[in-house]
Amino acid sequence: MELTLTSPLDMHLHLRDGEMLRTVAPLSARDFAGALVMPNLVPPLTTPEDVRAYKERILDAIGEEAFTPYMTLFFLPEYDYDFLQEVKDDILAIKLYPAGITTNSEGGVENFSLDALAPTLEAMSELGIPLCVHGETNGFVMDREAEFIPIYERIAKRFPNLTIIMEHITTKEAVDALMRFENLYATITLHHLYITLDDVAGGLLRPHLFCKPIAKRPEDRMALRKVAFMAHEKVMFGSDSAPHPRSKKEAPGCAAGVFSAPIALPALAQLFEEAGVLENLQKFVSDNAQKIYGITPPAKEVKLIKEPMAVPERYGDVVPMFAGQTLAWSVDGV
Ligand code: NCD
Ligand code: ZN
Repeated sequence: MELTLTSPLDMHLHLRDGEMLRTVAPLSARDFAGALVMPNLVPPLTTPEDVRAYKERILDAIGEEAFTPYMTLFFLPEYDYDFLQEVKDDILAIKLYPAGITTNSEGGVENFSLDALAPTLEAMSELGIPLCVHGETNGFVMDREAEFIPIYERIAKRFPNLTIIMEHITTKEAVDALMRFENLYATITLHHLYITLDDVAGGLLRPHLFCKPIAKRPEDRMALRKVAFMAHEKVMFGSDSAPHPRSKKEAPGCAAGVFSAPIALPALAQLFEEAGVLENLQKFVSDNAQKIYGITPPAKEVKLIKEPMAVPERYGDVVPMFAGQTLAWSVDGV
């Protein structure tokens, strides 16, 4: 059995910088035609110059592959219309992080009152710049995403022309909220389709499955699977592949992030095949994102074949999801 995907896209990806960038970027560029690259570097990307220079470093790291890095800017409430107009052509979206909620988000938003955010959001709406959101409060870890939903609703209602992407949704509540507003969309990761909190902490602790937002309950996973498997037009694949060196994961204070980029397509094919919906994978990993963002990625065919993939123990110094295990599908030629 085989499946050829046209221009697969990963609409939420952490490529990091320096040595790590050079390790992970070629792996995404090999399997995908493009990705939305997150801005949470240290310091975060907040100027057009930062974004352009980072894009150059990414292009340099991937070499000849047909792969478009779609760039993002780190949301600051002080961005005004003139600034956004200047940066607009260098980015596809702006990513909003609540302050301190995840890796390298210390400079994020503290005050979620609409008054504080309105000028920037108004300008984004006018300029047609989508808003990507890491939607978690700093409440109890299992409730953070659900607690953030009223904030999504306030923004969606006040700015009906603003495209808002609920990043890496993990709960049934988020799926329900997504359906209530025309201008809400969402990314779904590979790991949240596969695992629940039990896989992270129900037996031996699995640091390589620890991420933000934390994986939730079986009924949440079921709600995510339902919309992903039908390739609902409001959802698209975003791996949230977030590499950390082994010393940061296998540590008393484990960094959040699952590294899934190099195994994402085979693992998705396996899951979609098991669910009997392989024919919907093209929409989930490409077509929906093209419509939501209005993008045309490079034409690139990626052939998946139903032949076992032995997942490496490491890529450089990073341990991937399913390390040492065998997946039922592989990317042809990898
Ligand atoms: C991401 C990272 O490491 O940059 N970590 C994660 O657990 N997902 C940040 C993020 O997207 O939250
Ligand atoms: Zn992320």
